[in-house]
Amino acid sequence: MPDARPVILDTDPGIDDAMAILFALADPEVELLALTTIFGNVPVGKATRNALQLVEMAGAETPVAQGAAAPLQREPAPHPDFVHGPEGFGDAQPPAPSRKPDTRDAAQLMIDMTAARPGEITIAAVGPLTNLALALDRDPAIAKNAGRVIVMGGAVRQRGNVTPHAEANIWQDPHAAARVFAADWPVALVGLDVTERVRCSREDLVPMAEASPSCGGFLAEAAEFYFSFHQRSQGFDGCFLHDPAALVAAVDMDGFQTIPAPLSVALEGEEIGRTRMAPEGDGPAVDICLAVDPDAVRQRWLAPLWSGRLP
Ligand code: RIB
Ligand code: CA
Repeated sequence: MPDARPVILDTDPGIDDAMAILFALADPEVELLALTTIFGNVPVGKATRNALQLVEMAGAETPVAQGAAAPLQREPAPHPDFVHGPEGFGDAQPPAPSRKPDTRDAAQLMIDMTAARPGEITIAAVGPLTNLALALDRDPAIAKNAGRVIVMGGAVRQRGNVTPHAEANIWQDPHAAARVFAADWPVALVGLDVTERVRCSREDLVPMAEASPSCGGFLAEAAEFYFSFHQRSQGFDGCFLHDPAALVAAVDMDGFQTIPAPLSVALEGEEIGRTRMAPEGDGPAVDICLAVDPDAVRQRWLAPLWSGRLP
């Protein structure tokens, strides 16, 4: 078994975020150092509450630090209640958390943890990129101290999901995304080009609920709302595994094929939030995932969740 990969997960839970967070807590190849929260699927206060609930549900001690409540510059977009529900977990309502968030904000926790373990930590970002941009501005050394950055976001060779041009995480804070893609640190982009090829079915959640009645039972209940959204919008019974695919990439890139290229982000107008490959030399190259082995990634996500390691 390879050494566990230390990961800070920046997240806006969110139902697919919860699927990624519980994977990270269950997988022996992930050392989940912290959750940092961001606005996006829900306001940041609810994202923090939801992250604390998941950590306690899993019986873990993972610290949670609250991040930004709004984008760097653009007008805040409405939270997509119709996708994850007004509380973020569909109709599932876990008990209120007993623990409090870390006293540091998300950016400071990222700066501190990466400085303490230079070059080792993967920052996986599965919400808007505001916290990462704030960390870069507050202490540019994080670009050298972070080992790697995995971003769930963008749509390079296909249409977006919140507008025809843009994917939700980038669209919610395009200026932060542009800042992250322009920094001199190794970034891999796990965008809709691959995440819309990786799907979870209702049947996938049954062994999870049997193996882990509390966490698996919660996911099965929360997923119903997300499945209904996919049935209405995509016409299939199940859901895309956007955030889980990014966490699988954080531990094993084998199922993904990438192309290195600089990335530009549209900052205004009808195409705001659109991610395009830019010409070589137009900034540091990002490893852009453009093809995927869907079943390999889905199986890699399912294995720890079916293992019974979670309560
Ligand atoms: O576009 C999908 C992304 O937006 C996922 O991270 C989902 O949780 C939402 O944040
Ligand atoms: Ca998310």
